[in-house]
Amino acid sequence: MATLAQDVGAQDQTAPKPPRVVDPLDVSRPELYRDDTWHEPFRQLRAEAPVYKVEQSGFGTFWSVSTYKPIVEVESLPDIYSSEAGGITIADFIEERSDVRMPMFIAMDRPKHTGQRRTVAPAFTPSEMVRMSDNIRMRTAEILDTLPWGEEFDWVDTVSIELTTQMLAILFDFPWEDRRKLTFWSDWAGDIELVKTEELRLQRLQYMYECGGYFQKLWDQKVGKEPTPDLISMMIHSDAMREMDQMEFLGNLILLIVGGNDTTRNSMTAAAYGLDLFPDERTRLEADPSLIHNTVQEIIRWQTPLAHMRRTATQDTVLEGQEIKQGDKLALWYLSANRDESVFENADKIIVDRPNARRHLAFGHGIHRCVGARLAELQIATLLEEMAKRRMRVNVVGEPERVAACFVHGYRKLPVEISKY
Ligand code: HEM
Repeated sequence: MATLAQDVGAQDQTAPKPPRVVDPLDVSRPELYRDDTWHEPFRQLRAEAPVYKVEQSGFGTFWSVSTYKPIVEVESLPDIYSSEAGGITIADFIEERSDVRMPMFIAMDRPKHTGQRRTVAPAFTPSEMVRMSDNIRMRTAEILDTLPWGEEFDWVDTVSIELTTQMLAILFDFPWEDRRKLTFWSDWAGDIELVKTEELRLQRLQYMYECGGYFQKLWDQKVGKEPTPDLISMMIHSDAMREMDQMEFLGNLILLIVGGNDTTRNSMTAAAYGLDLFPDERTRLEADPSLIHNTVQEIIRWQTPLAHMRRTATQDTVLEGQEIKQGDKLALWYLSANRDESVFENADKIIVDRPNARRHLAFGHGIHRCVGARLAELQIATLLEEMAKRRMRVNVVGEPERVAACFVHGYRKLPVEISKY
């Protein structure tokens, strides 16, 4: 998930870069995520320096916040720690042209954030989830019924991407035959490593405009018509829409696609991969499907599909004894907070009946807490329920290929075979 502000701006590619000394505690390095070697530096940060300043990194200077408590503190003080001042990822951006901005409410502060969030929130109420649940179940069942038993296939593409894309297409009433465009746009928008080269940054920007243009057409088709039960129509007919210009409207739609896509997809892959890593826990889940809802929380905690969100200090302040200056950038490492042993015992392990699994920070905390959390939970729970009905076990048959980035924490490929239990 990324703001267009970041797409437009990114880092200034023309400035000469001084040689950089690699700090072993610089957890923004993409290879840590590609190689799954982030565990140790975070363990050290949590033990020795939960609020730690990285002087030089591929993303400039930033504070790493790596334990549970200070992350909750930062997210509880949105006036001091802004989502708007520097955007929501560790990647900086330069000032964009105002005529091409597509602002998104995830990167806004109060009071604007409040009004715009209110526009989409009705699409995610418990009653809306009930309304969507039959459709999601039907689509999930259809995909599971096409899977080849006892043959190798890629879980990411066949199941996680397809199900997530269908979920979003239902939410937006998006043309079914074009639904993979949602995946394509989202993959480009969510990869903050791309902003490091000018060519890719511009390519990425072009795709974001293409996405905006597509949604513009859908918007034109629905404006002035009777309301229909989908997000686009809901936004058109909401009160806050009167104060939202068209670029903001499009920006927020892109936010919803990107916000829902990588995250839900990577949780579904984690459900297959993580349970295979802990076969005893998988057996317990298979024996007692009433554990599914808790397991969904536990998988989201264990995976943490967005490794961090960024905040920018609006004033001088103190966090865990460290002096934060106005304008400083802070990376809130949910990935690390969700492995904080002072909150989650035996945190590296998936425990299907973990009593406090729900306390995870993978959806963030406070006024920006994920608005789509219920939908993601519904989709992942439905997947596990439909697998249980078919007594379907996913066996991982090779190493996953992981995303090399410190923002989206996920998988590109996961080779599996399915069997009956
Ligand atoms: C915000 C994670 C699914 C839409 C967020 C935030 C996180 C997050 C960490 C930011 C919280 C903060 O800054 O404090 C996740 C995870 C998901 C998921 C882990 C799946 C497991 C979804 C889905 C949608 C969605 C399915 C919609 C279709 C959004 C939006 C925001 C948001 C619109 C901005 C909320 C605000 O600024 O008020 N999400 N998300 N997310 N998410 Fe999600």
